[in-house]
Amino acid sequence: MEKKEMIKEQILEAFQFRHATKKFDPEKKISQDDFQFILETARLSPSSIGIEPWKFVVIQNQQLRNKLKEVAWGAQGQLPTASHFVVILARTILDTKYNSEYIFNHLKDVKGFPEELIPKIHERYKVFQEDDLHLLDNERTMFDWASKQSYIALANMMTAAAQIGIDSCPIEGFNHDAVHKLLEEEGLLEEGHLDVSVMVAFGYRAEEPRPKTRKELNQVVEWIE
Ligand SMILES: Cc1cc2nc3c(=O)[nH]c(=O)nc-3n(C[C@H](O)[C@H](O)[C@H](O)COP(=O)(O)O)c2cc1C
Repeated sequence: MEKKEMIKEQILEAFQFRHATKKFDPEKKISQDDFQFILETARLSPSSIGIEPWKFVVIQNQQLRNKLKEVAWGAQGQLPTASHFVVILARTILDTKYNSEYIFNHLKDVKGFPEELIPKIHERYKVFQEDDLHLLDNERTMFDWASKQSYIALANMMTAAAQIGIDSCPIEGFNHDAVHKLLEEEGLLEEGHLDVSVMVAFGYRAEEPRPKTRKELNQVVEWIE
């Protein structure tokens, strides 16, 4: 078979393999090397205007996992059994507003733009955030924008994991305010610069999933020619 066809087959196999794993085999741990690979796909993920408005907190501490379990109804089977459990944080308006110190430093230090160019870039971002997408309506619209970016990293991590035979489960089933409070108490939210976006558990499945169900392609795709 042609190389490209083999790769396509492998990728689709990974998409079929990936399912929302409810319970992991607690005895089977992901190797450090494999987990680094998964994290690397998060790091390399794209984000709007490239500001990487996220942080990935890997929670291996069983006590903290137990506390999370009390307020995360959607992770009852995953929290005690996952090999690795990640809370994905997204940056708040303090960092994502066009003229924030975070964006200034990001443009200068990460992207390597000359400092004198930055005010021009800020102007462009101001129009984008204020007029084009109405992101600056309130703190929530800004946070949701950052949170949306973090879901791209979430998806990439899960797909990459599936490609090397690692199971996962995305988790939105939690009380946001309670998780926020818990992580704030743990000092993980950088004094209001970060907030909770979504969670994801990784490991090896304890049982086989039910067959995958999806709508047909023609129900979700429309071609205009
Ligand atoms: C953003 C997001 C949040 C989710 N939250 C939970 C959750 O809290 N607990 C859970 O068991 N499954 C959760 N799921 C899994 C979905 O229910 C699952 O992906 C969907 O039913 C399709 O099934 P499949 O992923 O096994 O193909 C979530 C999925 C997504 C994308």
